[in-house]
Amino acid sequence: MTTPRTFGTPLSPSAIKVMLLGSGELGKEVIIALQRLGVETIAVDRYPNAPGHQVAHRAHVIDMTDGAALAALIELEQPDLVVPEIEAIATDTLAALEAAGRITCIPTARAAQLTMNREGIRCLAAEQLGVATSPYRFASSLAELETACAAIGFPCIVKPVMSSSGKGQSKLDSAADVRSAWEYAAAGGRVDAGRVIVEGFIDFAYEITLLTVRAIGADGQVETLFCEPIGHVQVHGDYVESWQPHRMDARALAAARAIAGKVTASLGGLGLFGVELFVKDDMVWFSEVSPRPHDTGMVTMASQVQSEFEIHAKAILGLPVNVALRSPAASAVIYGQLDAAAISFDGVAEALRVPGSDVRLFGKPASFARRRMGVALATADDVETARARAKEAAGKVKPRL
Ligand SMILES: Nc1ncnc2c1ncn2[C@@H]1O[C@H](COP(=O)(O)OP(=O)(O)OP(=O)(O)O)[C@@H](O)[C@H]1O
Ligand SMILES: [Mg+2]
Repeated sequence: MTTPRTFGTPLSPSAIKVMLLGSGELGKEVIIALQRLGVETIAVDRYPNAPGHQVAHRAHVIDMTDGAALAALIELEQPDLVVPEIEAIATDTLAALEAAGRITCIPTARAAQLTMNREGIRCLAAEQLGVATSPYRFASSLAELETACAAIGFPCIVKPVMSSSGKGQSKLDSAADVRSAWEYAAAGGRVDAGRVIVEGFIDFAYEITLLTVRAIGADGQVETLFCEPIGHVQVHGDYVESWQPHRMDARALAAARAIAGKVTASLGGLGLFGVELFVKDDMVWFSEVSPRPHDTGMVTMASQVQSEFEIHAKAILGLPVNVALRSPAASAVIYGQLDAAAISFDGVAEALRVPGSDVRLFGKPASFARRRMGVALATADDVETARARAKEAAGKVKPRL
């Protein structure tokens, strides 16, 4: 049972203060949603003028993997809630501060710790919760990887245990690919370059993100709500297109919800989670989970009554949320295409002339070829039309120097 929060005035002693750790395009939207409720927002990122910095009350630039720097900033700002937006954070520091009763971490510090490392979340899901996943092994050397790949069989996928957006990931078709996969993983890993997971390749029919929300219900207890499934296409481990709803077989949907309910209940806390699942017929495999809004969920800015960002903002504040679909819709990523600072975009007007479309430009200070700089959104009466419109709109936006 939780007592409803009192809302105050930002920049005054009555303010509710929320600190975002990571202030990219997803954090920016969460901050905008918080601002609308009069919440005082503090945006933190590792580089200046990150998207979220541009819409928050205060902006800080620190190395968030530096525990001492993170603790010092939290001490300075005294936020009511600390909201991780990325994985690469000193989560042990968050856990220590949470254990000492100094912070409330969203959803929980343990969730941030477990999901920043594929080993943590995989072992929790497969071994403790008994959820179906791809077969997997871990390896800390080339020799161990050779043994692990032989045990899993081919094709398989090798990923650094700490990485995101497909970095350092490769698909292996035979033992001849093991050495290059090891070297690629070592170059692409984030923190501990020396450890990888090998996963058996799942020949899924489609993959979805099931946005799952833990929010306070009318009875004051935590309830679990599910958004409509989001379908998406990944290229090199990075999302290029998503749509909602993705129609599913009723048994597969029930299985997907059961898995998402189990995993999010174990991670605990309040907020929205992006549960990534692979599906074939009525079989569902858990892949991974973000304890925060998910990049494929940007489509909800067009498809839902409340976007995933608004839902996250409300849920973490203890407010009720609405997960209803408004219209079928799709999103298509706008890439930088150029390696340069302060690029410009032509064709925004043309993109917005596509029926049902909308465009978000994130305002990132530097572009590189495969960097996500914006997203095109589109609604339609059906998902296929929405996908075509979103892709058409994205294609009209032309980055230039
Ligand atoms: N075991 C697997 N079998 C088949 N395909 C897989 C497997 N693991 C990953 N993939 C494919 O690669 C994509 C990226 O994998 P994963 O989500 O683990 O990486 P990531 O780096 O965390 O990506 P992101 O940060 O974008 O979610 C998946 O969405 C899926 O398309
Ligand atoms: Mg993923």
